[in-house]
Amino acid sequence: MDYDVVILGAGAAGLMCAAHCGGRTLLIDHAKKPGEKIRISGGGRCNFTNTDTSAVNYLSSNPHFAKSALARYTPWDFVSLVSEHGIAWHEKTLGQLFCDDSAQQIVDMMTGLVAAAGAELRLQTSASSIEKVEGGFALTQSRGERSQRITTTALVLATGGKSIPKMGASGFAYDIARQFGLPLVETRPALVPLTFPAERFAGLPGTALPTRVTAGATGFDEAMLFTHRGLSGPAILQASSYWQEGEEIRINLTPRMDAFARLRGLRTEVGRRSLHRALDALIPAKLSDHLAADWQLTGNLGDQSDKALADLAGRLSEWVLTPAGSEGYRTAEVTLGGISTDALSSKDMQAKDLPGLYAIGECVDVTGWLGGYNFQWAWASGMAAARSL
Ligand code: FDA
Repeated sequence: MDYDVVILGAGAAGLMCAAHCGGRTLLIDHAKKPGEKIRISGGGRCNFTNTDTSAVNYLSSNPHFAKSALARYTPWDFVSLVSEHGIAWHEKTLGQLFCDDSAQQIVDMMTGLVAAAGAELRLQTSASSIEKVEGGFALTQSRGERSQRITTTALVLATGGKSIPKMGASGFAYDIARQFGLPLVETRPALVPLTFPAERFAGLPGTALPTRVTAGATGFDEAMLFTHRGLSGPAILQASSYWQEGEEIRINLTPRMDAFARLRGLRTEVGRRSLHRALDALIPAKLSDHLAADWQLTGNLGDQSDKALADLAGRLSEWVLTPAGSEGYRTAEVTLGGISTDALSSKDMQAKDLPGLYAIGECVDVTGWLGGYNFQWAWASGMAAARSL
């Protein structure tokens, strides 16, 4: 065999695996640079982990699958690595850790670790004609005009999901998994803005407010943002992972207050204020304008009965909308679904029926919430495979 390990994909998971697996390791990526999603993540500061990580922060057909890898490589293990490399970091909110300076520091740390481990990194290189051979796998690696047939004892799929095709996302791992008979869970874009017909939120783009957005049975207390295409912001991105085409979402526009009590209080204080303008005390004025027109709010606060105010408070706490769709893989941060966990060992990410084949990171049917969970899965699953290679 030419190599002990060939890893396809030099993103977060592939870099982590290559940095720790030892032996003759080759890391292949078709992009010009490794770790491009790390570089652009977290607004250029990389939200590299979340200190509150546990399996409940992930979507998967098997909610228990991620537990083993996450327990054996924790957020604090990655924090130690970051600190050892002198990278300054801070907690932004909700356990989310970011670099103080630049996400490029994480890329540099990871490529430095890969080099220190003696692994070879080949960029602008693609893999094709992958097949099972006696004692391992054979594949053709190509760079420009040059192609070479190589063999390896172990093959690791780490080419990520379909999100952001402009950055080279390809769904390649799914094709190879399919070729080797590994089952797949249907994929769809996740952590993605939701779209609405043009003009639905005319005048509102740029308006943001704290909300609780619920899709299915799962709700998130975070900010929501109106855009020219529809709705975005952390609360919407989070809920999008639980939303299915055609379903409604429920938005609490006043999650941090007792809206009924507030409206009753206002009725006593400023009874002559219009109902429309009274809403300004609870939500941004532009949204008051929109809802007053939508819900045909008329009259003054003082004219409203308790029941009328309770109804209004109820509408504010459960604004029900049906998105037309999502922005799709073009802007989705991650891909839901992927290589079925049924086919893999949760201990080392190895295919149960095809020893030597591994799948790590986003290509596996484990998808994290927004907030550093996806990188933590990439680090942890990459490390789980590395430990057994
Ligand atoms: P990843 O996509 O990182 O790497 C796959 C690699 O495989 C790429 O280098 C690609 O070029 C290569 N590849 C693909 N097809 C190939 C082929 N056919 N041949 C060879 N190479 C191939 N998460 C988080 O926890 N915190 C955050 O702050 C963010 N922020 C963020 C921002 C944006 C804009 C996006 C799009 C995503 C995030 N994420 C995130 C999600 C996070 O980036 C993602 O979950 C991880 O990068 C997944 O790591 P992987 O290594 O599995 O795939």
